[in-house]
Amino acid sequence: MTSTEPGRRKYDALAERYEEIFFYVADVGRQLVDLAAPRPGDRVLDVGSGRGAVARAALARGCAVTAVDASAGMVERLRVDYPAMTVRQLDAGRLDLPDGSFDLVTAGFVVQVLDDPAAALVEFHRVLAPSGTVALSLERQTVGRLKWLHDLNAEFFGEGRGGGPGPMTADQLDTLLTVAGFDQLTRTEVDIPKSVPDPAALWAWLELQGIQQVLDALPADRATAFREAFFAGAQRMHDDGGIELEFGATLHRAVSGPPA
Ligand SMILES: C[S@@+](CC[C@H](N)C(=O)[O-])C[C@H]1O[C@@H](n2cnc3c(N)ncnc32)[C@H](O)[C@@H]1O
Repeated sequence: MTSTEPGRRKYDALAERYEEIFFYVADVGRQLVDLAAPRPGDRVLDVGSGRGAVARAALARGCAVTAVDASAGMVERLRVDYPAMTVRQLDAGRLDLPDGSFDLVTAGFVVQVLDDPAAALVEFHRVLAPSGTVALSLERQTVGRLKWLHDLNAEFFGEGRGGGPGPMTADQLDTLLTVAGFDQLTRTEVDIPKSVPDPAALWAWLELQGIQQVLDALPADRATAFREAFFAGAQRMHDDGGIELEFGATLHRAVSGPPA
């Protein structure tokens, strides 16, 4: 498995409201498929489909879409929402699918959540037909004007102080693609800003992500201090040009060369 049981449970829990919380995935999914430009009838495998942000864009182009995900919760909903797709619960690192059986493999915001992304890319290469295309999106870390909120999180929850390797970069992903046997690598950056009307709406967005449960685990005075600091910071941002969530991604496209 290239993801752990807690990892799968996390996505099961997020499944219901996934695209409401991650407001940018539908847009990025469409742009990723536009970049890959499959033709009607092409066989497309979307790995780590989630609620179908990428897969539905391929379906709209008349492709024959197979959508796979490790989370049972995501898979259940995909089956209901998209009866025209073949949907399976599969691990990205062990795709139970024949060699050379797809023209395009897509994965939107997936490689960075895998324990072993290199193994998954080798699988993507294996299931692609010769000269098939892979198209992947990767989150680009942007802080910008929301630095106050990142700092607040770090102060209360220690985020970013774990000393771990940090999120995957676009250069690292290109290296992994090359090692897995892909060539003709291209990449492009996209930005998806979202305006938030006021501090209460920003708080509501954090609530969708479970901020209240996180605060419930803090001593009451710390929880109150977080809430007060949050609303003061959000109000300052609102007064200083408006609240905007800045989200960025890198889209990677490559072609399947001979086996690595
Ligand atoms: C960040 S979400 C992206 C969902 C979707 N591709 C999108 O663009 O909205 C990552 C998805 O990958 C799935 N996933 C995580 N580990 C996986 C694995 N080892 N194999 C297959 N899917 C996995 C999760 O269940 C989740 O649906």
